[in-house]
Amino acid sequence: MLKDRHGRTINYLRLAVTDRCNLRCFYCMPEEGIDWLGREELMSYEEMLRLCSVFLKMGIEKIRITGGEPFVRKGFMPFLTKLSRLDGLQQLTITTNGVLTAPFVPELKRIGVRSVNLSLDTLDRNRFFAITRRDELPNVLETLEQLLQHDVDVKLNAVVMEGKNTDDILPLVELTKELPISVRFIEEMPFNGGDAAPKLLSWDHVQILDSIKAKYPNLYKLPDPAFSTSFNYQIPGHKGNVGIIAAYTRSFCGTCNRIRLTPLGDLKTCLYGGSVLNFKDLMRAGASEEEIQAALYKAVSMKDLNGWEAEKNNSGLASLSASMATIGG
Ligand code: GTP
Ligand code: 5AD
Ligand code: SF4
Repeated sequence: MLKDRHGRTINYLRLAVTDRCNLRCFYCMPEEGIDWLGREELMSYEEMLRLCSVFLKMGIEKIRITGGEPFVRKGFMPFLTKLSRLDGLQQLTITTNGVLTAPFVPELKRIGVRSVNLSLDTLDRNRFFAITRRDELPNVLETLEQLLQHDVDVKLNAVVMEGKNTDDILPLVELTKELPISVRFIEEMPFNGGDAAPKLLSWDHVQILDSIKAKYPNLYKLPDPAFSTSFNYQIPGHKGNVGIIAAYTRSFCGTCNRIRLTPLGDLKTCLYGGSVLNFKDLMRAGASEEEIQAALYKAVSMKDLNGWEAEKNNSGLASLSASMATIGG
């Protein structure tokens, strides 16, 4: 089992397979994109599979694939299929923007992906274009449709942005009336690739909740699953539910069970704070399985108790400017 020195069990790996993306969400990266990583800098799929198989022997049970957008990397499905067969993997999930995902849904289901987190900030085509700078809403909706048809659990992620999509909150909540999905509203974080100086957060979790309660006063709190990033709510009679992720104003550090690998092979033991170790370099220098294990044990044991607090006290959260696509969320 992987434990840190604060007694937290680490069993969840977020693996970002690429920094590239086919959208340009303004809260994530500038219009021109970011300085994409070159092929040699990326971990190869073979390297990722090797690392994952070692991590799974050490106590990782759940792997979430993130990006960038995972489906833009060539060979992603064959990689995912191999990953799904590794011993010890109890849960394999993906966070995707849904632009390219629809045709792969039957295959995802077949290899055992039972839940997918789909990023969607608005149901309005013009606003979708304004936010993502691409006209891809129909493809994302097709992915949602396919996921539902194939009985894959869906969490829909909507980042809430003042002046951009606060009018979309209620229409998105309305989806839960007929669809058995979880619609989650996320506070905007300052990880935007340095496009513009991040503003102070104007819509926090309280305001988001209040705006939903104004229309649905009967909304009631659901018990949150262990390690949930969201506070979860139910509107009586609705098939789905609503979640709010206070990603910016609250810390999940106390119950954190996760580590992250960036496309470069950097291990991040916290969303905030930098890389603590580069596994790609370690492997390319010829590290044995034992050396990989020792490096992970050491890094995890040193995991910060509260990286969010540390960052806030240090330089202030608003000073963070790396693109979410280089971190994987
Ligand atoms: P599961 O709990 O595995 O369903 O996923 P999740 O909600 O953690 O993952 P997802 O990729 O859907 O991310 C949703 C939002 O939560 C994104 O904006 C992430 O950046 C944010 N998030 C995920 N992990 C953390 C974390 O450790 N701290 C903070 N502040 N935000 C996080
Ligand atoms: N603030 C909050 N959430 C963000 N995401 C990407 N950038 C940000 C940001 N600056 C979300 C995406 C995706 C998830 C992995 O992270 O919408 O759903
Ligand atoms: Fe792409 Fe996700 Fe970033 Fe949007 S938030 S640009 S979909 S990586």
